[in-house]
Amino acid sequence: MTNHNTSPYSHLLLLAAVLALVSVASAFGPTSRLDLQKIMREERNYMQKKVIDISHKYVPDLPAYDSKSGLGNFIKLKTSIKLGDLYNFSVFKLTTHSGTHVDAPGHFNETLFELGYDVVSLHLQTLNGPVLVVDTPRNKNITAEVMRSLNIPRGVKRVLFRTSNTDRRLMYKKEFDSSYSAFTSDGAEYLAQNTDIKLVGVDYLSVAISPKDELLKVHQHLLNSKDIIPVEGLNLNDAVPGVYTIHCLPLRLVHGDGSPTRCILFQ
Ligand SMILES: *[C@@H]1O[C@H](CO)[C@@H](O)[C@H](O)[C@H]1NC(C)=O
Ligand SMILES: *[C@@H]1O[C@H](CO)[C@@H](O)[C@H](O)[C@H]1NC(C)=O
Ligand SMILES: *[C@@H]1O[C@H](CO)[C@@H](O)[C@H](O)[C@H]1NC(C)=O
Repeated sequence: MTNHNTSPYSHLLLLAAVLALVSVASAFGPTSRLDLQKIMREERNYMQKKVIDISHKYVPDLPAYDSKSGLGNFIKLKTSIKLGDLYNFSVFKLTTHSGTHVDAPGHFNETLFELGYDVVSLHLQTLNGPVLVVDTPRNKNITAEVMRSLNIPRGVKRVLFRTSNTDRRLMYKKEFDSSYSAFTSDGAEYLAQNTDIKLVGVDYLSVAISPKDELLKVHQHLLNSKDIIPVEGLNLNDAVPGVYTIHCLPLRLVHGDGSPTRCILFQ
């Protein structure tokens, strides 16, 4: 008796079923050979990249805006192994603008703050991506004239400005120094109107020079745009001018007008 069910196609059907099962198994099962090769390749690429940490360490002597005494003792053990507790467990208290940090659009503007422009609203796409590190003229603040001379092309969205603050090691001096270099109001206006820069990094505690009227105007020019993010208090000691990839991740502090942030550069 011949089996008429065994058509030439039944073998192909069986083969297709087996292949489908194998591919399902590899999609949900242990890593396939192909995935592993991809991971190893990515790993080799990653290991070749230099990582530069551009955040400052939080230490008691880190300067704080307008303060003589720095951060002070901002962290305390609540339970301690030495005192017989099961674990060490600490509480820390810092302002939202401590050390390396970002400003939210609502930082100087009550309307924006009430509309929800806190640090949670900041775009991760702006905080992460290609970045240009530039040196500024050491004898000047970042004025419109300096911005013009830097000639940063349209299309550049992230720039870190390395100033005399880095040479003067101001972030390593406990006492706040109001003579730091930063943006003047016409420099900030120029940036907002004539460039595509959305991430503005600086190497001391404020993006604006210290006189009060300038402090306000600079922040208004940048923050009222709602999409320009100042990153302040960066550690640019090891970031020589050039092109990098930046990663900045502030905390998701609801109602935060600012937040400490870890920032790193990939070369
Ligand atoms: C726990 O806290 C004590 C101080 O009580 C400190 O000496 C010790 O280094 C801490 N241990 C750990 C694991 O952090
Ligand atoms: C605050 O932001 C609102 C909305 O963008 C704007 O209309 C207003 O002029 C800003 N106020 C100040 C004082 O900057
Ligand atoms: C930048 O401005 C500050 C505050 O007005 C001033 O003290 C400082 O000398 C200026 N820096 C430079 C390099 O001109």
